[in-house]
Amino acid sequence: MTIPANTRQQAQDLLEFIDASPSPWHAVATCEQRLQAAGFARLDETERWTLQAGDKRYVVRGDAAIIAFVVGSAALAESGLRIIGAHTDSPGLRIKPRPAEEVGGMVRLGVEVYGGPILATFADRDLSLAGRVHVRTPDGFATRLVRFADPLLRLPNLAIHMNREVNESGLKFNKQSELPLLLGVAEEGVKADARFRQPIAAALGVEPGDLLTWELNAYDTQKGSLWGADREFIADSQLDNLASCHAALNALLATDRPVATCLCAFFDHEEVGSESAAGAGGSFIADVLARLAGNTGLDGEDQRRMVARSFFISADMAHGWHPNFPAAYEPCHHALVNAGPVIKSNANQRYSTTGETAARFMALCARAGVPCQQYAHRTDLGCGSTIGPIVAARLGIPSVDVGSPMWAMHSIRESAGVLDHGYMIAALSAAFAD
Ligand code: CO
Repeated sequence: MTIPANTRQQAQDLLEFIDASPSPWHAVATCEQRLQAAGFARLDETERWTLQAGDKRYVVRGDAAIIAFVVGSAALAESGLRIIGAHTDSPGLRIKPRPAEEVGGMVRLGVEVYGGPILATFADRDLSLAGRVHVRTPDGFATRLVRFADPLLRLPNLAIHMNREVNESGLKFNKQSELPLLLGVAEEGVKADARFRQPIAAALGVEPGDLLTWELNAYDTQKGSLWGADREFIADSQLDNLASCHAALNALLATDRPVATCLCAFFDHEEVGSESAAGAGGSFIADVLARLAGNTGLDGEDQRRMVARSFFISADMAHGWHPNFPAAYEPCHHALVNAGPVIKSNANQRYSTTGETAARFMALCARAGVPCQQYAHRTDLGCGSTIGPIVAARLGIPSVDVGSPMWAMHSIRESAGVLDHGYMIAALSAAFAD
């Protein structure tokens, strides 16, 4: 299959984006760097805002959620907003507040399961630590990002000789006792806690005792890759949902002097239900819309007109059809990898899509010259959900759920299509030009 050079470049850039983003806090920092390089200025939620047409701004909440926008030339009440939402978090293992424990001469770190990862995929990977650490300072504390490039941690499998049924029964871990990650050999007279703190303190140039708290992700140090006969597939961690963040961000960065105000909202905590200050169930996006409206002098009546003229695209990955597991899929709704963006529908509103919003997204794809597909989950299987229904309910904005098809959702090493990523960027760019 032929991959246009520009599309291959977009996929390569996605791999670099994910490699720079081993935790949701890093993902927001990566977005922030790219926004700043493109002339976007940071707004602070604690300051007063003044905005005018053409302004490119972004605001961060909780270091793990970010909203960026370009103010359009048309009045908000006349044009509404074009909004794309996605999430910065991915399922995985998070280090506990007091993680270090010595067991049988080994130091291991206790973890919590964040969201719904495929736990077996975390075994035998070159894992390491990335996240944010809060360090004591003379006047309180400071927050620092930390990441280790070398693999510090591992979850070795049990040998098949002690787990004879593994290929018949599957690889299972007890979440409390069998998931702790091995850090090193215990040393005589050195507490396990000190062994854990030492590398972090050294990386940050602080005293181990000044590490107050941490939020650390066990991430896979293996870099992303392109694979397949024509390198038409992408393999990486966190494709769900950093691939959608990357596509939406690229669409926004390419937007110059739009008529309607264009906005990207990347939330934290989607994988655990979105109910947090930085999650889609919190007030973040409503607060930003209220301030945009207030800044352009809209009264209550015009604010409702703004909402009614807006459109929300919830971009999150979709399930690509897997030829080895045909029985897992709804026979009339195969979403094929490298065959274009997928519109996700569910009559029970697990997805926010309506017939009307799906038709609108199809029209956007047609305008962008991009194929598109439709997906519905098997009726006898529980369907996942997204931020789409949450944001649609909260804001009252017509909404559609879309995503690029992918395999192995919630594995530590997911895969997707190179062409699909380029298609998604084109479709989302068309949405911002609408
Ligand atoms: Co997702």
